[in-house]
Amino acid sequence: MPIDNAIYDRLGSGWWDESNPLNALNGSFTPARFTYFRDVLAQLGRNPAGLQAVDVGCGGGFLAEEFARLGCRVLGVDPSEVSIRTAQQHATAYGLKIGYAVNAGERLALKDESVDIAYCCDVLEHVTDLDQVIAETARVLKPGGVYLFDTINRTRASKLFFIKLLQEWRLTRMVDTGVHSWTMFIKPTELEEILRRHGLRLREVVGLGPRAGLASLGWNFVRVRLGRLSFGDASRLMDLGRVRRVDLSYLGYATKLSRRSGSGESRQG
Ligand SMILES: C[S@@+](CC[C@H](N)C(=O)[O-])C[C@H]1O[C@@H](n2cnc3c(N)ncnc32)[C@H](O)[C@@H]1O
Repeated sequence: MPIDNAIYDRLGSGWWDESNPLNALNGSFTPARFTYFRDVLAQLGRNPAGLQAVDVGCGGGFLAEEFARLGCRVLGVDPSEVSIRTAQQHATAYGLKIGYAVNAGERLALKDESVDIAYCCDVLEHVTDLDQVIAETARVLKPGGVYLFDTINRTRASKLFFIKLLQEWRLTRMVDTGVHSWTMFIKPTELEEILRRHGLRLREVVGLGPRAGLASLGWNFVRVRLGRLSFGDASRLMDLGRVRRVDLSYLGYATKLSRRSGSGESRQG
């Protein structure tokens, strides 16, 4: 099934609505991802206050709002106009100052070496040109800048979970379209190689997955299907978080190599 990225325009006005399938990315997903990213910045000794961050593929702004609350100056970009409008309206309603722009990750309208933090969450497995997205991210990051990400591994387990269970099987699927294409999932070694080619050193990869048991997961997906559970509740009950296995999703970070050291190491990180 080819990937259907048009879904973000069709459903993108409802990112913050718990009955909208896109809201499944909030629930336990936003806290799981954000907690890890915040911890990485702390480990690296980076005080986020005042740092310039770009959220590549920001969708409805779940993570942009978290980074803004940390004190970052955030720019969220996404090719989906509807999503950007929704994100902007939500931030305004909550008194958050976040810049938003319609822009694909393959060609960022940002100056070279202008951002301290770039992050890309559940986006890399959606983009048309992965190499170009990473190249652009590397271009706009300052030397020593931090790249944070999460994406989906290309394994038998991810095919079963993300494709069969969540997208194909009639009783359990969360959406009736191809939000994911298994062939676009990315192995950590492949990502590491692309990052390296563009001057980003992969520093860590950790597993991200549901901590709820398989039976409860399956049953909750059926309840969503029957209209008895919202996507927001299903996401919370999934209890996404750090897990040992990396064969479903994984989180990680890289740092941009310092020009001055030339040694492949960031002086700051
Ligand atoms: C699964 S959503 C993730 C949204 C958000 N990052 C989050 O985690 O809540 C994937 C997002 O990637 C965006 N996207 C698709 N192709 C893209 C591209 N080439 N560059 C940047 N974003 C893209 C979609 O419009 C969509 O908003």
